[in-house]
Amino acid sequence: MGLKSYADQWGLVTGASSGIGAEFARQLAARGMHLILTARRGDRLQQLADELHTKHGTHTEIIVGDLSDPAEPQRLLAEVARRGKTIELLVNNAGFGLVSEIETADPAKMLQMIQLNITALTELNYRVLPGMMARGRGGIINVASIAAFQPVAYMGVYAATKAYVLHFTEAMWAEAREKGVTVLALCPGTTKTEFFDVAGRPGWAESQGGDEVKPVVRTALKALDKKKQYTVAGWGNYIRSLLVRLAARRTVVKVSMQFFRPQK
Ligand SMILES: NC(=O)c1ccc[n+]([C@@H]2O[C@H](COP(=O)([O-])OP(=O)(O)OC[C@H]3O[C@@H](n4cnc5c(N)ncnc54)[C@H](OP(=O)(O)O)[C@@H]3O)[C@@H](O)[C@H]2O)c1
Repeated sequence: MGLKSYADQWGLVTGASSGIGAEFARQLAARGMHLILTARRGDRLQQLADELHTKHGTHTEIIVGDLSDPAEPQRLLAEVARRGKTIELLVNNAGFGLVSEIETADPAKMLQMIQLNITALTELNYRVLPGMMARGRGGIINVASIAAFQPVAYMGVYAATKAYVLHFTEAMWAEAREKGVTVLALCPGTTKTEFFDVAGRPGWAESQGGDEVKPVVRTALKALDKKKQYTVAGWGNYIRSLLVRLAARRTVVKVSMQFFRPQK
């Protein structure tokens, strides 16, 4: 059985307190899925849980936690198991980026980004996939980015974490599909969420005419239903992801400097 029928199954969405994660929760609940939502801001999660229950009558539970704490992925899954839930769909969405210059970057924040975007995501995949594969069904969506296709100056760590997510996910997809499980990398382009506020460039997504969260999440769920290994949200972003493969690497990274070069 694939995931085409989401109704009455349990999903786990990380980073569900805003942006793309909150939209995943809304679209999955609309398909009848019961959800466990996690992030650090419990008040936001509770509000969303109440909204989903009112609109769709589905069950929603919240688990508050900081996934950049190395102990959190295991604690989260232990709590899910303690509550007696079997996760049929995991959305690894929690992540953040930072725009900064080398000289002023905080190395500790860079390591925290790697811990969240790469390490926690990897651990959750390895802890959840074997059960899904044994059951012969289930899915994981790992949220990468259009930045996964190229280096990005002033966002070097972020783009590299997303390159990892894309490559890692494709490898997981190849192995897991033989056991009836789909692992999908979602690569959104610039999307209007709180991402660039957190990254230190408030208003950037709006100034670039960024995408709305709804079509981004719709693209992901459609690709999951089709058992794809990755999907880029939006045609323009898809074309860009292909173009960078044709250009010289040196050109690609130099062009990337124009996006976030600090104004002096
Ligand atoms: N927006 C874009 O342009 C864009 C483009 C490509 C890819 N993405 C990716 O999309 C994903 C979602 O981002 P978004 O755009 O929706 O940004 P967002 O609105 O800032 O949402 C990020 C989510 O991650 C959670 N989070 C952050 N740090 C966390 C931590 N240490 N532990 C647990 N949860 C944490 C946040 O919740 P709390 O703060 O409550 O913990 C929030 O729910 C990220 O992986 C991002 O890299 C975004």
